[in-house]
Amino acid sequence: MKKVKLEPDYQHFAAPHPAIVVGTFVNEKPTYNTLSNFGMTCGYPLHVYVSSVKSHYTNIGIRKHKTFSVNVPSPDNIVETDYVGRISGHQVDKSEVFEYFTGDLKTAPLIKSFRINFECKVIQTIDVGRNEMFIAKVVAVYCDNECMDGNRIDIEKVNPLSMYMDMYYRDMGKPYGKAYEVGKKYKPKL
Ligand SMILES: Cc1cc2nc3c(=O)[nH]c(=O)nc-3n(C[C@H](O)[C@H](O)[C@H](O)COP(=O)(O)O)c2cc1C
Repeated sequence: MKKVKLEPDYQHFAAPHPAIVVGTFVNEKPTYNTLSNFGMTCGYPLHVYVSSVKSHYTNIGIRKHKTFSVNVPSPDNIVETDYVGRISGHQVDKSEVFEYFTGDLKTAPLIKSFRINFECKVIQTIDVGRNEMFIAKVVAVYCDNECMDGNRIDIEKVNPLSMYMDMYYRDMGKPYGKAYEVGKKYKPKL
């Protein structure tokens, strides 16, 4: 197969981008920001990172409290998710966009209408170009009762949104094979 060599920039990041909403408090009010720069840095104990442009309003709260929430949107949360990602808290008050609750950390607003919430405590901040990358320990995960299957999260009921380089949000799509299973079909070439 012939390959085309492209510039290494975000427009060529042809892989799924998560789309999550980060919550924090600035001036005693909750505020929110949509980020696709999000991922798991360690599965056990669970740690995540978010990376946000240093000038973003949300960063003020994360820097101050050393806490934030990660809220995972489902398709019915798409309008609010996009809204808090297209306008800054420097321009508008986003405190009323979501109803929230707080957990043990008190300074991480957890969005009630989103199925999944992570309550996060920052352990390290890394300077990455124009972004700040906050690495955090997840101190609690919250899941809507109706998305639970016994004591397991039913991910198909959560149906988290992702965003792609064509700037469209998409949902989970169809399963193609089970991890650690489908690879058993591999036949060595020799
Ligand atoms: C789907 C989507 C993904 C985004 N991902 C990021 C990201 O990963 N990092 C970032 O700094 N900004 C990202 N943004 C842009 C910010 O959400 C946007 O600039 C927001 O207005 C910042 O809000 P704030 O200043 O209130 O914190 C994203 C926006 C959208 C809509």
